[in-house]
Amino acid sequence: MDSKVLLKKDMKEKQELVNIILDRFLPRKDEYPKEVHKALRYSVFAGGKRLRPYLTMLAYCLFQSNPEPIAPVAAALEMIHTYSLIHDDLPDIDNDEYRRGKKSCHAVFGEGVALLAADSLLVSAFELVTQAEIDESLRLRFVKEMAQGCGINGLIGGQMVDIESEGKKVDKKTLMYIHENKTGSLISLCLRFGAIAGGATEKELAAIESYGRKIGLAFQIIDDLLDIEGDPVALGKSIGKDEEQEKATFPSAFGVEESRQQAADLIQEAKHAMRGFGDKAVLFEALADFILSRNS
Ligand code: IPE
Ligand code: IPE
Ligand code: MG
Ligand code: MG
Ligand code: MG
Repeated sequence: MDSKVLLKKDMKEKQELVNIILDRFLPRKDEYPKEVHKALRYSVFAGGKRLRPYLTMLAYCLFQSNPEPIAPVAAALEMIHTYSLIHDDLPDIDNDEYRRGKKSCHAVFGEGVALLAADSLLVSAFELVTQAEIDESLRLRFVKEMAQGCGINGLIGGQMVDIESEGKKVDKKTLMYIHENKTGSLISLCLRFGAIAGGATEKELAAIESYGRKIGLAFQIIDDLLDIEGDPVALGKSIGKDEEQEKATFPSAFGVEESRQQAADLIQEAKHAMRGFGDKAVLFEALADFILSRNS
């Protein structure tokens, strides 16, 4: 089977698994207090590529045949991602009206409810990790690493520098800091958890982490490019916002062509990092190509 077709099929299967876990774990829409549960379910099930949980399961399945034991960890990482999107869209951050092809959470439920729904996803994600049927010591390790990767030395740090850099001309180091932290840290964490739980050796883990750093940065560069030349319907979010808000992005620093080239180089390097896995890396390679050519 063509690797692109194989990837599509594998993503669909693993997305379904993660959606089942999310649906089982999250409170029902009509559970008291309803509004917050309605809001968090609205955002989680609005769509989304489920890239982050897919990465966790993909890395796990390099070493194991059944992704089920790691699926709760993967689902928890999607909850963290969704929380970050709800906060990212708030008027005081990016002020975005659309997300995943629908009105953003605060546009439907109001800012207060959106804030609480996102907070709830963030804290409940830690609880879900503790429910995974993996080694007890791994659960503790993942909780700790998740707190670190999503905190001020990770996702939040990146988001902080992203907003404080609006309207400024930043140097490459700052731009890298923003992208590697706001987006790269969670993507790397996803792969790392899958690989560790799967039983990767130190050497294998290093290769997978190198792949993660490269695709993580490429993913955000492509996101920046799609904000300029993407189709808002396919993307499910508005475009042109980065320029309007004078965000620190790769295209604003290097131009569109150069940014695309940098993303393409990173994708090649990512694939190269996985060469030691031989044929077993086929889905990793197809996924790297997907990240470069995606339109949503
Ligand atoms: C959007 O992430 C936020 C960024 C880090 C660029 P995705 O493009 O993965 O969003 P969903 O999950 O598919 O909605
Ligand atoms: C978002 O970066 C990163 C996080 C949500 C942590 P962007 O602000 O560029 O993402 P979009 O374009 O709104 O999806
Ligand atoms: Mg943002
Ligand atoms: Mg945004
Ligand atoms: Mg963006």
